[in-house]
Amino acid sequence: MKRMLVANWKMNGDVQRVRAFAFAMNQLLARQDTASDIVFCPPALYLADAKQMLPLNAQLALGAQNCHAAVKGAFTGEISATMLMEIGCRYVILGHSERRAMGETDVMVMEKAEAAIAAGLKPILCVGESRAEYEAGNTVEVLSRQLGALHSLKAGSFVIAYEPIWAIGTGLTPKIAEISAAHAAIKSVLGSGTDVLYGGSVNAGNLREILALPEVAGALIGGASLEIESMIAMLAIAAA
Ligand code: PGA
Repeated sequence: MKRMLVANWKMNGDVQRVRAFAFAMNQLLARQDTASDIVFCPPALYLADAKQMLPLNAQLALGAQNCHAAVKGAFTGEISATMLMEIGCRYVILGHSERRAMGETDVMVMEKAEAAIAAGLKPILCVGESRAEYEAGNTVEVLSRQLGALHSLKAGSFVIAYEPIWAIGTGLTPKIAEISAAHAAIKSVLGSGTDVLYGGSVNAGNLREILALPEVAGALIGGASLEIESMIAMLAIAAA
């Protein structure tokens, strides 16, 4: 199975680093037979810089970290899915816990997902429980609530990223059996054909055992995606 690695740079990087990363990743993908998919999600204003470094038939896909639910209008500071499409994106991360912490709700995530799909983008929809919810044993319940809002989306038009909030940027990860169970729970709600990524403190040291799970279609990677060397190591693991 072709694995997907999503490099979520969050609010990190600069023009030079974005350009260098985009070029290097695409070169690497072009050389690989058993290529995995890499989706590079730099800050939105660098997407055009990344795009400029890529040939027309680039294997590296670009993604944004957010979009607005409306096609256009009086929404100062916002970016529409159509604009992201126009600039060359194929994906958009939606509902990341860092955005949910800024007030994004399940309904808003669903509306953005609908707008993204209508514009031709494939949303990567993030779900996951907090530390307190995890400790209370409520992971599946939280996931069911977050996924409930996504029922109307057409199967295959989106990807889910299971990201326990307590695992993001902390160096902590759930046990492998817990990742497996959460992915199975997500598939039982949305259908077994739904691609589900794992995210939260993924790095070259733990990626192999996470990707060994048949339920895991790939990884959403934050901190460890910022360095080209670490991406090269993870790509080699994903392609093995
Ligand atoms: P992390 O971030 O890999 O730095 O934990 C993952 C994410 O937030 O998508």
